[in-house]
Amino acid sequence: MDNHDLKIVPVAALRVQTEGDTILPEASSEFVLTPYIEDLTARALAYLEVGYAVHLAGPAGTGKTTLAFHVASKVGQPVTLINGDDEFASSDLVGRDSGYRKSKLIDNYIHSVLRTEENMNTVWMDNRLTTACQNGHTLIYDEFNRSRPEANNVFLNVLEEKILNLPGLRRSGEGYMEVHPNFRAIFTSNPEEYAGVHKAQDALIDRLITINVGHFDRETEISIVMAKSGVGLPDAETIVDIVRELRGLGVNNSRPTIRACVAIARILAHRGACAQANDLVFRRTCRDVLDVDTARVTRNGHSLMPQKVEEVIQKVCTQEMKHARSQNKRRDRRGA
Ligand SMILES: Nc1ncnc2c1ncn2[C@@H]1O[C@H](COP(=O)(O)OP(=O)(O)OP(=O)(O)O)[C@@H](O)[C@H]1O
Ligand SMILES: [Mg+2]
Repeated sequence: MDNHDLKIVPVAALRVQTEGDTILPEASSEFVLTPYIEDLTARALAYLEVGYAVHLAGPAGTGKTTLAFHVASKVGQPVTLINGDDEFASSDLVGRDSGYRKSKLIDNYIHSVLRTEENMNTVWMDNRLTTACQNGHTLIYDEFNRSRPEANNVFLNVLEEKILNLPGLRRSGEGYMEVHPNFRAIFTSNPEEYAGVHKAQDALIDRLITINVGHFDRETEISIVMAKSGVGLPDAETIVDIVRELRGLGVNNSRPTIRACVAIARILAHRGACAQANDLVFRRTCRDVLDVDTARVTRNGHSLMPQKVEEVIQKVCTQEMKHARSQNKRRDRRGA
């Protein structure tokens, strides 16, 4: 593979994706590696090395996509990315006839005879799965259960028999293709109860090794917040603790996610505010960012969320102030 074809994508900022391009993932300066992430990475990598496809399953914001790219970067092969889509058919994965190529020959040699010959050739467009299987790429199939299960049937042979079935229409070769021995696949999925998500077929799940990914541990969340916003440790701790406390309260235990922590921290840094209960900018920002599950936590039809956010801010800030004071006292005693 010619390196000029490769696109370098920082792992923690994954949105760059151009149709048909191959990706060479690379960790950005914001990428955080803690024991929690190292453990997940080592497990996923080992399963891939043995030859299994890995499935990272978990709620929104638990770092599945980022982890998939990080693990893929460790595999060292170029990466092909597919995003699950309800509109997908198998042909979107493997390829299809993209119409006809018309070539025209006009024989004008003998002036009186004008011979015209038209050739219609079927043009086969390989899609990303075919390209990945052929070249031994690491395939990341992000949110694969957004595609309808029947579109994903093509993976059953790819993962088990290492054969990609191509419809007979592919004129340029056989109806099937052997999968390159370096081909590896990482799937990610959101829980079935999420909107727009399908239940994956048992036969496919049976061929994958599923790692259930939950929310990051506290240490990892704090490190991510600091890396992605530039706020200091005390502010990052306060923000993360508020979000973790609210996560435990709501009906939807997966929200607010790390994205809310990062958003609050970035806004604080931008506005020069501090994560303290007496900082009005901080409290306002928390209310705006965190008051998303309004309809879910209610009493007598009224949302309890703004009140809950205020209570949790007070509670966490008081705890953290006490903790900081006792730390200072201990330091003073040691210094004295
Ligand atoms: N190791 C890490 N270092 C730095 N940032 C990270 C790391 N892991 C995840 N993040 C950040 O956390 C956020 C959530 O991560 P990611 O998008 O990978 O989660 P996800 O589980 O794929 O979420 P969704 O299901 O909504 O797609 C992103 O902003 C991402 O950049
Ligand atoms: Mg994702």
